Amino acid sequence: MKRDLKKLISQMTLEEKAGMCSGLDFWHLKGVERLGIPSVMVSDGPHGLRKQDDKADHLGLNDSIKAVCFPPAVLSACSFDRDLMYEFGDAIGKEAQANDLSVVLGPAVNIKRSPLCGRNFEYYSEDPYLAGETAAAFINGVQKHHVGTSIKHFAANNQEFNRMSASSDADERTLREIYFPAFETAVKKSQPYTVMCSYNRINGTYASEDPWLLTEVLRDEWGFEGYVMSDWGAVNERVAGLKAGLELEMPSSGGINDREIVDAVKDGSLSEAVLDQAVERILNIIFQYTDHREEQEFTLEADHELARKIASESMVLLKNDSVLPLKETEKIAFIGEFAKKPRFQGGGSSHINSFCVSNILDEVSGNANITYAKGFPSDADTYDEALAREAVSAAKDADKAVIFAGLPDSFESEGYDRSHMRLPECQNRLIDEILAVQSEVIIVLHNGSPVEMPWLSRVKGLLEAYLGGQAVGGAIADILFGRVCPSGKLAETLPYKLSDNPSYLFFGAGEHVEYREGVFVGYRYYDSKEMPVAFPFGYGLSYTNFAYSNLKVSLSELSDNDTVTVTVDVTNTGSVEGKEVVQLYVSDLTHAVRRPIKELKGYEKVSLMPGEIKTVSFTLDYRSFAWYNTQIKDWYAAAGDYEILIGASSRDIRLSENIRLTTQKLLPLHVHMNTTLGELLADERTANYAADIKERMLSFFGSTTTDADGSGDTAITEEMNIAMAASMPLRNIASFGLCSKEDLLAMIDEMNRQ
Ligand code: BGC
Repeated sequence: MKRDLKKLISQMTLEEKAGMCSGLDFWHLKGVERLGIPSVMVSDGPHGLRKQDDKADHLGLNDSIKAVCFPPAVLSACSFDRDLMYEFGDAIGKEAQANDLSVVLGPAVNIKRSPLCGRNFEYYSEDPYLAGETAAAFINGVQKHHVGTSIKHFAANNQEFNRMSASSDADERTLREIYFPAFETAVKKSQPYTVMCSYNRINGTYASEDPWLLTEVLRDEWGFEGYVMSDWGAVNERVAGLKAGLELEMPSSGGINDREIVDAVKDGSLSEAVLDQAVERILNIIFQYTDHREEQEFTLEADHELARKIASESMVLLKNDSVLPLKETEKIAFIGEFAKKPRFQGGGSSHINSFCVSNILDEVSGNANITYAKGFPSDADTYDEALAREAVSAAKDADKAVIFAGLPDSFESEGYDRSHMRLPECQNRLIDEILAVQSEVIIVLHNGSPVEMPWLSRVKGLLEAYLGGQAVGGAIADILFGRVCPSGKLAETLPYKLSDNPSYLFFGAGEHVEYREGVFVGYRYYDSKEMPVAFPFGYGLSYTNFAYSNLKVSLSELSDNDTVTVTVDVTNTGSVEGKEVVQLYVSDLTHAVRRPIKELKGYEKVSLMPGEIKTVSFTLDYRSFAWYNTQIKDWYAAAGDYEILIGASSRDIRLSENIRLTTQKLLPLHVHMNTTLGELLADERTANYAADIKERMLSFFGSTTTDADGSGDTAITEEMNIAMAASMPLRNIASFGLCSKEDLLAMIDEMNRQ
């Protein structure tokens, strides 16, 4: 049905229009009954429904309906699997239709700048390409059902400390290359019905009232067609927000801000056309949902099984010195309360009221020979000697010990950041004690963000289960006992220690948080620095092996509007069926600007039977090679060579091939008196002039000199002269008397006129 929204809006009073721009209550938008505009509901969240029927809050304090808690983003992103994310979104879309929810408040795609951010468990990755692709697939799955999503938190919301007032101060290149692309990709590939603006300020301006962010970038450049809603309570000045492009304020402001809008229209400080446009955008999305209501049936049980599949395809096997998979004939000690009470989700607005939770003890087969010892509590850092003694003796009596470790709920949550990266002391201590009596030790981690692992070199197995969703127990059992071949890969680097993280010196405190590490976030930093890390980005083991061969790049030269196809063969060389995530990184060899040593530009997950070979294909375009140039306010890749790297992680590059870019795009030329000779030499448009100037400079410096000490050693070589000349500004040509100032100015003019 095509609705005439403009006509509908013309029938609304000013008060009704202003009213449409804020919530009715915590979770509903207002309706206008006399005009047939329904009041629709929105609800968290990204990994399951948190529909609150009674008492409402945005901090996860009060109960919501019983629902399925799928794996939070920290885990699902490790699937590196677009199809799986689509299936995940499809299930959420169906559940939302069945529960009459018009918009699901997710996915959350903020970049993991520091391991300390309390909300990292809700975010996908340190890499914007992976976060964007993952989000787009999820959104397409949800919106197939005409249920909207609200991609959040736009933008640069990378910490919880003072999240409602702090300013994320980052230069534009960093925003464009690191903190924006996940939103940009999602807008371009999946057109989310809504975008949720963040609480924080960006370079001093509240995201909720930033016209550059909400209109110029989001709508004019990327083509966003839905409406922007505020995070809960993120509105600072309502009228400024509306003008900037914030259509909907959530939740209700009790009528205060609606009145401000009405007054502003009346006194002429707000054009009514701006209000009308906002209302039209909101109505458009409301009706997209209400005009396409679907009869949806779903069962919590079937979705529980999907949650289990997503979890087992995402958990990352980090270490396996021939201890896994476990065999049912072995005597195994399960240690740690997380085995019984797994931590499977984080705290705050995404907290789901799970209809059931599976733990590993319920999931092992009846034939398995398992003992369980609590060892330590799952919710506190308290060492209990009796519990520890019992656990050590269980470990000693077994063939292998599996320790279920992790972070208690209080260690990480929405609303605050961690202050360190350590596991509870009681856990590290018990792990040490067990290692003293048992050499076959496997650790299973339940955490929303990286932890230090002081015992890493001494354990034989390590499974990063992250926060696994309510089917966590089944998924871990599937991997530990080899029913599922692990195929998750890390969506973030695991550093050895907190101080290795690039934001370490600048994270957190202060009204202005300076993003001084710039674009060097995650592996972009660790890999450029060649810094040892516990596990690199993209890393994850399997129970089988894969060989890479036959890399082909369809073009050896690429120009601006070309696309290039890259193919590579992957063979399962082991003896079980498995899945591999093939990763494509690009390295800029032109050195035209300081850039990370490599950046992810493609990935594909393939499933292979033993002995099977598949060809994996990627498409790259100009943007795949480009960085954001603030001088031209556009993406730019310099002409020259680039390396295409194919790997199994950011540090396990198996094959590579160079490609040459012959771009027509040139940066504007602006030569002035202080342009250096070196800059002129590097630009082909000025190289001729520069060669001549260089000769003059060198002859001015005179020939190389020998030391006065009579040794005959050369004091100043030609190379030194050239290096010195390269840093000379043009003004020196005149001041050294190598040409007149008038001639120099004429030459500069000539160069600039090209
Ligand atoms: C969170 C959002 C959430 C909203 C509603 C806010 O506190 O930042 O992510 O969607 O509450 O619960």
